[in-house]
Amino acid sequence: MSGELYSKDETLELRKRLVGPSCKLFFPETPMKIVRAEGQYIFDEKGRRYLDCINNVSHVGHCHPLVVKAAHEQNQLLNTNTRYLHDTLVEYATRLSKTLPDKLCIFYFLNSGSEANDLALRLARQYTNHQDVIVLDHAYHGHLTSLIDISPYKFRKLDGQKEWVHVVPLPDTYRGPYREDHEDAGAAYASEVEKAIDEAQGKNRKIAAFFAESLPSVAGHIIPPAGYFQKVAGHVRGAGGVFVADEIQVGFGRVGKHFWAFQLQGEGFVPDIVTMGKPMGNGHPIACAVTTKEIADAFTGTGVEYFNTFGGNPVSCAIGLAVLDVIEKEALMHRATDVGTYMMELLNRQKSKHRMIGDIRGVGLFIGVDLVKDQEKRTPATAEADFIIRRLKEERIVLSTDGPHANVIKFKPPMCFSKEDAKLVVDAIDKILTGAILYSYTHGELKEHEAKTGATNHPLLPVSIKG
Ligand SMILES: Cc1ncc(COP(=O)(O)O)c(C=O)c1O
Repeated sequence: MSGELYSKDETLELRKRLVGPSCKLFFPETPMKIVRAEGQYIFDEKGRRYLDCINNVSHVGHCHPLVVKAAHEQNQLLNTNTRYLHDTLVEYATRLSKTLPDKLCIFYFLNSGSEANDLALRLARQYTNHQDVIVLDHAYHGHLTSLIDISPYKFRKLDGQKEWVHVVPLPDTYRGPYREDHEDAGAAYASEVEKAIDEAQGKNRKIAAFFAESLPSVAGHIIPPAGYFQKVAGHVRGAGGVFVADEIQVGFGRVGKHFWAFQLQGEGFVPDIVTMGKPMGNGHPIACAVTTKEIADAFTGTGVEYFNTFGGNPVSCAIGLAVLDVIEKEALMHRATDVGTYMMELLNRQKSKHRMIGDIRGVGLFIGVDLVKDQEKRTPATAEADFIIRRLKEERIVLSTDGPHANVIKFKPPMCFSKEDAKLVVDAIDKILTGAILYSYTHGELKEHEAKTGATNHPLLPVSIKG
């Protein structure tokens, strides 16, 4: 069953007419209509199969049968709010707690990553009695008003930075102020946080929280240098604030070695609040904020009930449990390491072949390929990245870009991604970069591309076919 009510053109027309235009489509000039999905594949209305390299929400694979079954079975029995006792909720909290350090033991279940971060902000403010937040540059933490305010990625395009928000440099050792050759980039970036705290305190402001994605993904698939989080946490806690690790994109075993990406910073590092979302329900809306007993007690201390109509309902929790089961049964963390390492090897071979590949960084199935126009200056190759993404779509591979310059090709596929898939993608990128496919492009199409993207000197193309 394809589930199609309308032709593709009709769907597009209706969407344009009825849906807020700021809800953007992938590939706006040639949008895809997807009617079904399975594992790491999505299928369009014509039955064409695309390899999905970016959907970290369908974590254990699109429409995983065990997850679908768990949802169906619980739906037939009961779905209601959390004001009744129910086993799925406590079982899910128990299972999640086994993946976390002991200190993180009190759970709040919600429906979206944004809700989780908004609650984290409330928890931090209530516990510390402070208001201000420190965030990484280019970060994104969600679409609620409170989170737009702490997302430089968004607020820079809107009404700007609020006085209670303090932005620190992204710990990017490839393009940031302290690079791979710095003797202790972690300490250097952490000292920027200390500086921001001093400046804020100089204005009589008080820090409630430091928010960071454990691996900043929207900001360009960044791997923070070793020791950074520990040192930041020291400075932030010293100022009376708490450390919030946003695991909404990168949690649930994606990094392979660990269940949570913050654990890459060392066993000893424990955030005060961790937020989770996207992969948690394999496409079903469920999210969570977990914190310490002390922080939860301070929140309870207000005497105001926390009620969330849908958060933690039995169906969501049954789905969450099934996702954890699949991660375990199918050894998906091991797979993330195995396939991710193989893919990094393949990409690194490409790096020595193509000057446009500036940096390859990743861990497990979280990999970024930073494209540059110039290896020395590390000038982002934005138009070229866009071009590659669109060419890959023609090869039936779905990828997209991230980072402030939209020049980092990001890989965060469903965790059932295989070595064959990895090879297919890397070979396709190689072909495109070599220009083999581009020979088939007519001058007209190229000119059109240049007019749209502003790319005039297209380094992907052999001189002979430039218009
Ligand atoms: C790092 C991060 N935090 C929070 C969110 C917000 O999650 P949601 O879209 O589920 O509200 C997102 C969404 O893209 C995200 O990438």
